[in-house]
Amino acid sequence: MFTRRRFLEASVGTVALLGGCTAEGQNARTALPIPELVDARNQNGAIKLIAAEGQHAFLPGRPTKTYGFSAPYLGPVVRIHKGDEVEFTVENRLDRAATAHWHGVLVPAALDGGPHALIRPGGIWRPVLKIDQPETTAWYHSHPHGDTGRQVYMGLAGLMIVEDGTGERLGLPRSYGIDDLPIILQDRQIDPDGSLVYSAGGPARMMGMRGDTLLVNGAISPVAKVPRGLVRLRLLNAANARTFDLKFTDGRTFHVIASDGGYLHTPVGMTSLIIAPSERFEVLVDFSNGKAGILETAPDDNMMRGMSGGMMAGLGESVGGPLMSFEPHPTSAATASVLPQTLVPLAAVDPSRAIRRRRVSLDMGPSMMRGQGPGGGMRMGGGMGPPMGINGQTYDMSRIDFAPKVGDTEVWEVTPNMMAHPFHVHGVIFHVLSIGGKAPAPYLAGGKDTILLNEPAELLMTFTQPAARDFPFMFHCHILEHEDGGMMGQYTTE
Ligand code: C2O
Ligand code: CU
Ligand code: CU
Repeated sequence: MFTRRRFLEASVGTVALLGGCTAEGQNARTALPIPELVDARNQNGAIKLIAAEGQHAFLPGRPTKTYGFSAPYLGPVVRIHKGDEVEFTVENRLDRAATAHWHGVLVPAALDGGPHALIRPGGIWRPVLKIDQPETTAWYHSHPHGDTGRQVYMGLAGLMIVEDGTGERLGLPRSYGIDDLPIILQDRQIDPDGSLVYSAGGPARMMGMRGDTLLVNGAISPVAKVPRGLVRLRLLNAANARTFDLKFTDGRTFHVIASDGGYLHTPVGMTSLIIAPSERFEVLVDFSNGKAGILETAPDDNMMRGMSGGMMAGLGESVGGPLMSFEPHPTSAATASVLPQTLVPLAAVDPSRAIRRRRVSLDMGPSMMRGQGPGGGMRMGGGMGPPMGINGQTYDMSRIDFAPKVGDTEVWEVTPNMMAHPFHVHGVIFHVLSIGGKAPAPYLAGGKDTILLNEPAELLMTFTQPAARDFPFMFHCHILEHEDGGMMGQYTTE
């Protein structure tokens, strides 16, 4: 058991600035913070997480109030194993209700930690999860309806790793914090005095809360010392709203080996990768030539259609820039240097098994664009007509929207409106049949629980987990201010 996050540092002290990344001159850089790894097998199958307030200095020497799970900000990386039972104890020491949702972990809805599983202030929740799914990178975060955006922004999120021995068998990098790195991407608005600002009103209500400070594992522009060889990055977009468009400044190729639901059939070589809120990708980056690398993101242009840049001025919502750098160690050898040709066999995706189709329209409110502010711009205040929702209805905790049965296979036709939305379904791993009428790109062809949609898509899913009325599963946009604003529905499987 642990009560505090201990940051193991990827390297000791600070690291000299890399040549080629000149923005901050020759200043010393922060080492990539590596969250504590808590492996259920070293804890007798019992893991405790404490949601509490903390202090974290995003800017050196200027701490600000944050939230975390057993840590001032974010939480430990929790490793669980297929076939095991893991007893979680989640204690809420905050002054408001919170939850712990296991995003990407397939468990019955009553154990899923959605909005119905509120842990009141001072309360404790003790779900026992039976882990039964292929190896993957998942995550956990608070999910109380109407407050998810603020709580995740404040820090209530962490990474989870499900293991079944596949990575070991394939010889993939697996020395945690050395050649197997958690990379939690976020953006935040941080005032010059260091304080973390969350304001979900105005434009942020429509576009989601964004910020012009880019963070990796809670740090600004950190440096990871890595061995010379293959390094595995477990990328998680834990931002409230922004999509990252990743590449290395030298344009090097990296290989995507896994998405939300686990390994792909073969590694997919790419030079840039778009990762939307709540998506995970595992990538292998080759540092065997000893060359340093800088990971950067392009600006995010996912804005509401029809809004001009000027209307978004002052939000600093979509900046691009360097996220972090990697500095290969001159001597230390990596555990892996050969990219596997194939990863795992994947069952064929068979749409003929679907017994029904459902339509899901992600709506931002039909009359929202009618309000004209002074100068013809859109009015961003109140009185904008119907709230956002799905299929014309805003989220209602007491309404069940869909009721498939365990064992059913369905196609969901999901249509995004006004802007691109990262659509997420609890309780299943789905496959993308088409986006905009076309087959998905190879890196999106594996198991997914979230997909960024700027065009209509068809998703194939088979329900395996029980969900009853009192604890249904959610489906929603993972722009957290859209979710909090009602772009969410619920389904049961009884
Ligand atoms: Cu990341 Cu409804 O969840
Ligand atoms: Cu989820
Ligand atoms: Cu959305």
